[in-house]
Amino acid sequence: MPKFVNPRARHNFQGRPTSIIAVGSYVPERVLTNADLEKMVETSNEWILTRTGIRERHIAAANEYTSDLAVQAARRAMAKANVTAEQIDLIIVATITPDMPFPSTAAIVQRKLGATRAAGFDIEAACSGFIYALEIGQQFIMSRTYETVLVIGAEKLSTITDWQDRNTCVLFGDGAGAAILQNRGNSHGLMTTFMGTDGSKGDLLCMPGGGSQNPASPETVKARLHYLKMEGKETFKNAVQAMVSAGQEALRRCQLDISQIKCLIPHQANRRIIEAVGERLGAKPEQIFMNLDKYGNTSAASVAIALDEAVEQGRIKRGDLVLMVVFGAGFTWASAIVEW
Ligand code: ACO
Repeated sequence: MPKFVNPRARHNFQGRPTSIIAVGSYVPERVLTNADLEKMVETSNEWILTRTGIRERHIAAANEYTSDLAVQAARRAMAKANVTAEQIDLIIVATITPDMPFPSTAAIVQRKLGATRAAGFDIEAACSGFIYALEIGQQFIMSRTYETVLVIGAEKLSTITDWQDRNTCVLFGDGAGAAILQNRGNSHGLMTTFMGTDGSKGDLLCMPGGGSQNPASPETVKARLHYLKMEGKETFKNAVQAMVSAGQEALRRCQLDISQIKCLIPHQANRRIIEAVGERLGAKPEQIFMNLDKYGNTSAASVAIALDEAVEQGRIKRGDLVLMVVFGAGFTWASAIVEW
């Protein structure tokens, strides 16, 4: 009998449970503080701190690409998991800032890691990308298709940030987080994952230029279409609602009460969003993990970096239950419960 009755456990009985064997993360060296931003746009440390909780963010060097951040995070996760590049069967990279439209960043990561046996592809679900990628990776382990899957969330958001737009440029940062998925005997591992999408609200958070609708041209560059655009207030409201319902759905599926969760890791976009989500889910402040003050919103990398730090800081130990909830452009949202 499983420890917690999970309506989706029949999946696990047909297949194999998937465990996150280890996580790793990486942020580039250069730090951009709120004081630095005060010199770039009309803003203040006080405004940014009170509205978002962000103090600083890391910015990648010009010759440091999303794949480089991904590789650094992957190497750290592989070292902790004691997994070599040759052992990896599949690489999934979640990103909205690939090195280039094609080939995929996963293919570039595969080459840089020397993971010669691995297949690889990218997925795109904006800030929800890491949990989407975990769910996809889990399917390959459950079905016994693969033994070792490397899941990465990596972003160089500084390349699509409009550094003249104070509404958005204070919010984002660069970074990467990676996880090694394998089966670990009868350990529960990933107990449930849940994903949602509402494409009717896609215009509220998007990058309009560079795709088939607005291919790059002097006009699209002039109109600043190659930068991220966001309706902050609407995004805020939707983020809270979606993350709360995704969290509740995951708890319901596992028949768990929030009090049984050791660590709640929400997408690190805004302290006020995280506090509202925590409160509505009934979580105590000490259950909630936050590190956005140091990194800002790193989109697909956000919960992966947070998970790695929570483990490193001893906030999560073997056997603890972890609830992750995310929200991003699309709109997309997702949740996952992991028995660590
Ligand atoms: N510095 C100073 N003033 C600013 C700044 C700034 N950096 N940015 C905006 N303001 C001003 C605005 O112009 C506005 O001024 P006005 O009243 O004179 O027009 C005022 O501050 C208030 O702006 P609001 O938009 O009402 O501020 P709000 O409290 O909504 O906070 C914020 C803005 C932080 C962007 C918030 O809406 C938010 O966090 N939204 C959600 C972001 C998010 O979660 N994204 C997740 C997904 S991201 C992804 O998927 C890639």
